[in-house]
Amino acid sequence: MKKRFVSIALMMAMSASMIACSSNADAPADTTAAGTEAAADTEGEAGEETGEKELITVGYAQVGAESDWRTANTESFKSTFTEENGYKLIFDDAQQKQENQIKAIRSFIQQDVDYIVVAPVVETGWETVLEEAKEAGIPVILSDRQMQVSDDSLYECWVGGNFIKEGETCGNWLADYLEAQGRGEEDINIVTIQGTIGASAQIGRTEGFGNILEQHSNWHMLDMQSGDFTQAKGQEVMESFLKSYDDIDVVVCENDNSAFGAIDAIKAAGKTCGPDGDIIVVGFDSVKAAFESMIAGDMNATFECNPLHGPRVAEIIQKLEAGEEVEKIQYVDESYFDTSMDLETILETRAY
Ligand code: AHR
Repeated sequence: MKKRFVSIALMMAMSASMIACSSNADAPADTTAAGTEAAADTEGEAGEETGEKELITVGYAQVGAESDWRTANTESFKSTFTEENGYKLIFDDAQQKQENQIKAIRSFIQQDVDYIVVAPVVETGWETVLEEAKEAGIPVILSDRQMQVSDDSLYECWVGGNFIKEGETCGNWLADYLEAQGRGEEDINIVTIQGTIGASAQIGRTEGFGNILEQHSNWHMLDMQSGDFTQAKGQEVMESFLKSYDDIDVVVCENDNSAFGAIDAIKAAGKTCGPDGDIIVVGFDSVKAAFESMIAGDMNATFECNPLHGPRVAEIIQKLEAGEEVEKIQYVDESYFDTSMDLETILETRAY
């Protein structure tokens, strides 16, 4: 691993100031004093105080800009990895294409960055490029989605949401909701607008919801198709579902933006949705626009996925700089929101 020479005491101070993986879903990024201080007090290669600022260069291979969640995630990295905080961020938007992410990682290696951070579009196909990073001595940190690799020493650690749990929370919520409406024993027809096939968020949410579906013999999954986590594709997929099935009770959208597209399609087809409508609409992420949609009566519930990973990754980097161990798998606490809650009040302090 490459060596850096930032004062350990100050790095620890910076670490402590960063937001840990916690239940505080709305905590804003720490972009302030401790980071600036740590960056200002650095040492030269020979371990001698130079007083000069030595920035830690971080290459971030981002998935794209497909959703409100992704925008908040990008903002979290950009506001954390600033020069004031002691970093130089090289940001790459892969436009949801794995080949673009692989190119970005190779370019980070060529530029000899200090750390590579990847939010992988899909889980498989990373071995070769991670081996190249390892050979170059550049630590790789995974954030948001995971990778399936045969040798987990190819990356330092991963931090993100528990997608299976999110899917199970959604299924359990639906069971309680239907029960409360006196529909617990009714036949319930469900369609799912999946995320990008092969992405951890798709795999986990599909599996988690499926675990609860199995427990309800009266729930029928009519169809599942990918909406690629975008509003436009979510709308297209829902339009096609509505043409194929005239008795949909629930649409499970594997992110909020695809739910917004589904709602547009439902309304365009002359149907209604939300708590007083024909079709129950649920999403994942819990972005501000989902709160607005629930308040407007269109969406029923949203299952949280926290995008504020910038400070969490910065904390990991500071620990690695200090030669500390980091936990290999770091889950973030997440919640859910539905129309039974005081959404206006929650929205007032919502960070994303
Ligand atoms: O990997 C997280 C998922 O990716 C979010 O649910 C979605 O909005 C984003 O595109």
